[in-house]
Amino acid sequence: MAQPSSTTPATSAFLTIDGVTKRFGDVVAVDTIELEIAQGEIFALLGSSGCGKSTLLRMLAGFETPSGGRVRLAGEDITDLPPYLRPINMMFQSYALFPHLTVYDNIAFGLRRDGMAKDAIAQRVTEMLALVQLTPYAKRKPHQLSGGQQQRVALARSLAKRPKLLLLDEPLAALDKKLRERTQLELVSILRQVGVTCVMVTHDQEEAMTMADRIAVMRDGRFLQLGAPGEIYEHPQTRFVADFIGNVNLFDGRLVTDEADHCEIRCDETLFRVGHGISGTLGSEFSVALRPEKIAIELGAREAAPNQLTGTVAGRSYMGSYTAYEVEAVGKRRVRVTVSNADRHADPFELGAEVTLSWPDTAPVVIAE
Ligand SMILES: Nc1ncnc2c1ncn2[C@@H]1O[C@H](COP(=O)(O)OP(=O)(O)OP(=O)(O)O)[C@@H](O)[C@H]1O
Ligand SMILES: [Mg+2]
Repeated sequence: MAQPSSTTPATSAFLTIDGVTKRFGDVVAVDTIELEIAQGEIFALLGSSGCGKSTLLRMLAGFETPSGGRVRLAGEDITDLPPYLRPINMMFQSYALFPHLTVYDNIAFGLRRDGMAKDAIAQRVTEMLALVQLTPYAKRKPHQLSGGQQQRVALARSLAKRPKLLLLDEPLAALDKKLRERTQLELVSILRQVGVTCVMVTHDQEEAMTMADRIAVMRDGRFLQLGAPGEIYEHPQTRFVADFIGNVNLFDGRLVTDEADHCEIRCDETLFRVGHGISGTLGSEFSVALRPEKIAIELGAREAAPNQLTGTVAGRSYMGSYTAYEVEAVGKRRVRVTVSNADRHADPFELGAEVTLSWPDTAPVVIAE
C-alpha cells in the first residue's frame, strides 16, 4: 500500500469517500455519503432497487462524476481521474466476457492493451488461471464454460492488472441459487488470497452477509446503518433495517418501565421485558423487533407473564432444516417462529393448535424510529 503523503492525515483508511453526492436533475441518487474502507476489506452496499448502489460504485470507478465530495484511494485524491487512470477494476456480469476469445485471451486482454511484455503476460495469466482454478480451461471459449466458470474468468480478468480496488456490481446475479451460494464462497476465498480491497453491490442480503466484512444498508441515497453482518442483524437501529435483513416480527408499543438494568414495553397484550435500560421517556412510542429463531414454542396456554404470548398455529412451512410457524395471537396479529429440525422424528405443531410463545430478555431489540 502506498503510504499517505504528508499532505493527507495518517489514517488506516485505504478508500475514503468524503461527502460524495450525485444528483440527476431533481433526483438525489447518492446523498453526502461518508465512508472509510480499510485495505483488504470486503465491503457490501446493500439496498433495494433505485437506492443508489450502482451510482455510488460508478463514481468510485470514474464512470460517473460526483456532484459534490471527494474520493481518495491509498492517500491519493482520485475524484478527477478518468476511469482508465484509476488503479481500479470493475467487474460486470459474465456476459461481459469476449465471446470470440479464449479464456486465456480474455484474461490477457487488458495486459496486452497496456503493452505488457509477452513473457510477463504469460506468467500473469498462468497465475490468474491457477488462482481461479481454471488452468485446464485456458483454450476454451466462454460458451464452453458453465455460468460459475465464466464468472471466475471474469474475476481473473478483473484481477489480472492487480487493481488496488475491485468493484463488483451484482457479481452473481446471473447464477442460479445453488451455484450462487458456492460461488460466493469461492469468490471470497480468492479475494482474500489476493488481499484486494473490494466494494460490492447487491440487493441480496444473504449474499452481503456471506461475503462482506461490513455492510452498509442504503435507502434513498443514504446509509441507514453500517456495520459487520452480525451487528446489523442483531442490532438493527431502524424498522427498515430490521425488516430488510432477514425475517423479523415488529411490534409497536409504549415504554412503561425504564431502569438501569431493564425496561418494559407494552405492545397490546404482550409485555416485552428487555434486559437493559434505554434512557427513554415513559409513555413514548417504541418498536420492538423479535427474530423468529429466538422464540420458543410449546403446546398449550400458560399463565400470563412478560416475554410470552399465547396464540394458535395458523400456518406452517416445512423448509427442511427448519419449520416456520405463523402463530395468530390476540387481535389477529401474526407472529413468525422458526424451529430447527434437529430431530428427524419430532412432531410438528398442528394447524389450529393452541401454543405459547416465549423468549429471553436478550431477544427483543428496542427501536426508537
Ligand atoms: N444516468 C441517470 N440519469 C438519471 N437518473 C439516474 C441515472 N442513473 C441512475 N439514476 C437514478 O438514480 C437512482 C439510483 O439509481 P442506481 O442505479 O444507483 O440504483 P441501484 O441501487 O443500483 O438500483 P438497482 O438495484 O435497481 O440496480 C434511481 O432513482 C435512478 O433512476
Ligand atoms: Mg444497480
